[in-house]
Amino acid sequence: MESLWEKNRSIPEFPRLPGDIRTDVLVIGGGLAGLLTAYCLTQKGISVVLVEKERICSGVTSGTTAKITAQHGLIYHKLLNDYGKEYAQMYHRANARGVERLKDLCRKADCRLEEKDNFVYSTDPMKLEAELTALQKIGVDAKFTPDIPFPVEVAGAVGFANQGQFDPPVLAAYLAKDLTIYEHTKVRAMIGTTAETEHGKIAAKKVVVATHFPFINKHGSYFLKLYQHRSYLTAWQNTRRIGELYVDDSQTGYSFSSFGDYFLLGGGGHRTGKQGGSYPELISFMGRYDANARECFRWATQDTMSLDGIPYIGNYSKHTPDLYVAAGFNKWGMTGSMVSAEILSAMIAGETPEDAAVFSPSRSIWKPQLLVNGLESTKNLLTPTPKRCPHLGCALKYNKEERSWDCPCHGSRFSETGKLLDNPANDDLKK
Ligand code: FES
Repeated sequence: MESLWEKNRSIPEFPRLPGDIRTDVLVIGGGLAGLLTAYCLTQKGISVVLVEKERICSGVTSGTTAKITAQHGLIYHKLLNDYGKEYAQMYHRANARGVERLKDLCRKADCRLEEKDNFVYSTDPMKLEAELTALQKIGVDAKFTPDIPFPVEVAGAVGFANQGQFDPPVLAAYLAKDLTIYEHTKVRAMIGTTAETEHGKIAAKKVVVATHFPFINKHGSYFLKLYQHRSYLTAWQNTRRIGELYVDDSQTGYSFSSFGDYFLLGGGGHRTGKQGGSYPELISFMGRYDANARECFRWATQDTMSLDGIPYIGNYSKHTPDLYVAAGFNKWGMTGSMVSAEILSAMIAGETPEDAAVFSPSRSIWKPQLLVNGLESTKNLLTPTPKRCPHLGCALKYNKEERSWDCPCHGSRFSETGKLLDNPANDDLKK
């Protein structure tokens, strides 16, 4: 189903790869992370080619809530506990810079930037207090409100001032206009830093994998470090506009915002391949909130979730000095894309990127979520069913709400006819 951002979308089309080529840097993936990385590299005078298997800005970037914020759930007390003050400050500085840089680009690109405050709400007063204390310890300004203007139970909300929201396809069109891009060009395999596609080979000195879920299984163990979470969005008219962004700290809660003439309600989420509230939950909520509202758009989106809530940005693995990755933005892909573009472009240019250590893809994987991911994979690998995922062979589950076959292990999805909808699988289902 079409998202709000696909309405009136005007992004130029780009050709297929014309045959074998060479480049300094190859960026694989034409979502916002790939486009921003290619743009930042070009700004540094480095020659870049970007390839996208379909159209640029057609995947998760077109299904976002388009929030720009350095507030990623109630993450700062967890960062402080797990990684200490220095890393918590690093995470905030990198994201606060990302917010400002992204807002500047939005102003240049004239992509309907709306600056507004962001609030994360919770039913748990202890968590809210811990977050406020952590923010104070690391020197970040935040505010507290005991209530939010929606019929949901809360103990309060923590807010960051001057965050934002924008129209992603307009920014994508602006970034793409001076880039070398090949669309409908799927990378089938990597041999070192040479990419093999259906239309020819691309020999690069360095390669950035920005494909939402990293598709190279040989390095980095991303199939252990990431899973995918599906959530649902609706856009409404004939209801009141709100001036802030709100999101539940819980993964199964709601998000609320207004952009332009539309009220955006998100929620109904679940691990991909599992059951969740989906659209019926959102429609039911809206019936209680404002029965006169009119639904105009509905769409679903899919986020890659890391083990510790921090994205993986940097070298793909310890053993791949010329291969880079940007993935696992959790639910904050717009700001995460900007942060990764700044870090990866600096690394590739031979500079020392600021605050990159906290995002290192080679950090410890010994987190409780690793066990959850491992159990889920084992269970689905052992489930006897003929419908198997071509990624690593897990049993697929039918998603009746979206009429698709979804993989609970790492989140690949397929249409009823077997066409690949979401990676990390790289092929359609076998007939
Ligand atoms: Fe990995 Fe299906 S997505 S086995």
